[in-house]
Amino acid sequence: MKKLIGYKIKTAVFISGTGTNLKNLINFSYKKNSPISIDLIISNIKKAKGLNYAKKYKIEKKIINLDNKNKSEKKIINILHKKKIKLVCLAGFMKILSKKFINNFKGKIINIHPSLLPKYKGLNTHKRALENNEKFSGCTVHYVAPKIDSGKIIIQKKIRVSKKDNLKTLRIKVLKIEHKLYPKAIKKILT
Ligand code: GAR
Repeated sequence: MKKLIGYKIKTAVFISGTGTNLKNLINFSYKKNSPISIDLIISNIKKAKGLNYAKKYKIEKKIINLDNKNKSEKKIINILHKKKIKLVCLAGFMKILSKKFINNFKGKIINIHPSLLPKYKGLNTHKRALENNEKFSGCTVHYVAPKIDSGKIIIQKKIRVSKKDNLKTLRIKVLKIEHKLYPKAIKKILT
């Protein structure tokens, strides 16, 4: 999926929590050399802190409770098509999307995960990395496939885990590199 010259690819960011990656992607989208514009924020959590960025940056937001997945996903697909969204970035989105949804946007949904995939797929990545005394950790941006955290890897960044690291320090360290890596991944696939 390459960028059309002169146009920015309309992008939706899906979140469930704090939204530091969302904020970072919004700032990236404002840059002249960025191939994307952020046109929609979707959260499955009504009180997600990251939704404040929708207000701050005047971006349309939708809160969609995915308890009835089939119905909610249909609703999301309609909104995405209506808004001509061509790229979906999952950024701390903690729900698993169905195969049907993913296939509908094949090659157009990407995710950031706080580990060096294929290591530590799923939840509690930092906890498991620390318990295993990993010397390195990092983050990965990958295409989303129906099997969790298993899609084709776009880019990865490795960092050293120090003996002094705990859950909080490791999380912060990894988030810092996530903010560099996500824009880099987007540029890699779109320019
Ligand atoms: C990030 O570390 C992201 O990699 C992780 O959640 C955090 C969200 O932070 N995502 C996952 O674990 C997905 N399985 P943010 O809300 O501040 O961007």
